[in-house]
Amino acid sequence: MCGIVGYVGRGGTVAGSSGTAGHTALDVVMEGLRRLEYRGYDSAGVAVLGEDSIESRKKSGKLANLVAELNADPLPTSMTAIGHTRWATHGGPTDQNAHPHLGDQGRLALIHNGIIENFAEIKVRLRAEGHEFESETDTEVAAELLGSIYRGVVESGDGADDGVDHLTHAMQLTSRQLEGAFTLLAIHQDLPDIVVAARRNSPLVIGLGENENFLGSDVSGFIDFTRRAVELGQDQIVTITPESVSITDFDGVPAEGKEFHVDWDAAAAEKGGFPSFMEKEIHDQPEAVADTLLGRSDVDGKLMLDELRIDPAALKSVDKIIVLACGTSAYAGQVAKYAIEHWCRIPTEVELSHEFRYRDPIVTPNTLVVSISQSGETMDTLMAVRYAKEQGAKTLSICNTNGSTIPRESDAVLYTHAGPEIAVASTKAFLAQITAAYLLGLYLAQLRGNKFQGEIADIMTELGRIPAKIQEVLDHSEDVKQLAQEMAQTKSVLFLGRHVGFPVAMEGALKLKELAYIHAEGFAAGELKHGPIALIEEGQPVFVVVPSRRGRDSLHAKVVSNIQEIRARGAKTIVIAEEGDESVRDYAEHIFYIPETPPLLAPLLTTVPLQIFACALATAKGLDVDQPRNLAKSVTVE
Ligand code: G6P
Repeated sequence: MCGIVGYVGRGGTVAGSSGTAGHTALDVVMEGLRRLEYRGYDSAGVAVLGEDSIESRKKSGKLANLVAELNADPLPTSMTAIGHTRWATHGGPTDQNAHPHLGDQGRLALIHNGIIENFAEIKVRLRAEGHEFESETDTEVAAELLGSIYRGVVESGDGADDGVDHLTHAMQLTSRQLEGAFTLLAIHQDLPDIVVAARRNSPLVIGLGENENFLGSDVSGFIDFTRRAVELGQDQIVTITPESVSITDFDGVPAEGKEFHVDWDAAAAEKGGFPSFMEKEIHDQPEAVADTLLGRSDVDGKLMLDELRIDPAALKSVDKIIVLACGTSAYAGQVAKYAIEHWCRIPTEVELSHEFRYRDPIVTPNTLVVSISQSGETMDTLMAVRYAKEQGAKTLSICNTNGSTIPRESDAVLYTHAGPEIAVASTKAFLAQITAAYLLGLYLAQLRGNKFQGEIADIMTELGRIPAKIQEVLDHSEDVKQLAQEMAQTKSVLFLGRHVGFPVAMEGALKLKELAYIHAEGFAAGELKHGPIALIEEGQPVFVVVPSRRGRDSLHAKVVSNIQEIRARGAKTIVIAEEGDESVRDYAEHIFYIPETPPLLAPLLTTVPLQIFACALATAKGLDVDQPRNLAKSVTVE
């Protein structure tokens, strides 16, 4: 997830007069980047069309570093500019990997949001044709490809008959070759007043002005300059000039965009119109899971990790896995245990990072230590990983932050692609971590031959269906919110689950503690009779995450019995069950259904109503869900 801005125009007009407002293309783009920095902040860059050449500046780190660079080495005044603020996926957060990337021997600049799945094969092809690459990014491959196609179009005159400029035509041809998710924006020195963009599975909005037009990842990219916006559809190309906006599909067939008026204030625009980052991030989850699944297989369709500094043969000899994490990430680790043990038959322990190294753990060179951390900077987890390395273990990091310390110090890395998580309590990063844990399980199963390629492909297909199912849960969340509002005065809530539903129950309880400051506990449903049932009294709210009937049948029946047991003792039962499961209806005061899915993958769905519940209840209590008291997003002390 990155932030993208494009501008072409004559400085805008002052409202009510014919004079210009006097902003330069660079002013517009820098203002847009400031507003979009929440989408990514590990590097930033801009490119403008100077007198007769493209000039660009880019810098790793926050936008302030780019501002300093621009002060030290200013860009020429221009009417055309593109700008980018990055959340790294392919290639670490370095100056070199920052956008824009250049193509057509420096005559073209391109910025990108998304993941180009087939970049590796295109890179091989372009290298064979003599192209050279300076970065590790998929974006530079797109820039070189667009540049090379543009040259071909110019030389053959292809496309000019349709009245379409060469860059637009080249962008159409390029987009057809790319797989995955991308928003691309390009400028070329031959065409001083044009910005061309393409969009597939990645956001892009057009802003309409007077003698100027804008592009942005979302409306906050241009909200300081115009309130008139146009939605761009999937697989579309847009070309903006100061006077015009034209849209086609990837085949060049003209298309229409839908205009709308932006009535959000600037702060709401950054949150996509949601009242809080937390709500936005809960709603970002279909995209976070989809992006985490993107670009995971090589040309032969085999799963791969992002970085592998361990000999695959050594990974094959792993005889124990220890998953280390804190907070929400530790619950993702617990889901990982179920998946890895089931698919790979490798004994897997999950441990809180801060407990691990003080108990004299048994770690050998055949132990694989998997750390899970959204930030990649949690000190407890970092220290535990270092300790494991000292003991000779192999280390693998599941992390959302490219280039952060934990993945840098690990032997192998699998990045989640949730984009920056701003709200302190984790939501979308959690689902992305679980997704990555499944990918890791499948990768190990493939490497060790525990599963046939076809079986792995079937599970990947099911995972591919999850984003739409999460969307379905989100689209039907009004009842959950309503219940949360009714329960705003509640003092204590219990959560029960079994199998992969157990960590989900604990995460549901943690969200409620973190956001709403309510006492909440998650239990394994089977443990109820060994103690927690004593807590049940008249009116005690209990969430129960019911496993699918299609899994281990007996497990479903046992949880249904648990519901009856607590209901008989007066509990207010709130049930999360799979669509079509009628067996719980008589014992549930409230039921929230989730779409059918393979039982092992269910946490990606069952978690969502619990997040919505905690967020809505905290909101009903008037609390700040983005910055709960006493908590920090990244805890960098032990
Ligand atoms: C803090 C945050 C939690 C997060 C935990 C682990 O406590 O408030 O939301 O789950 O750290 O963070 P990590 O970045 O390592 O996943």
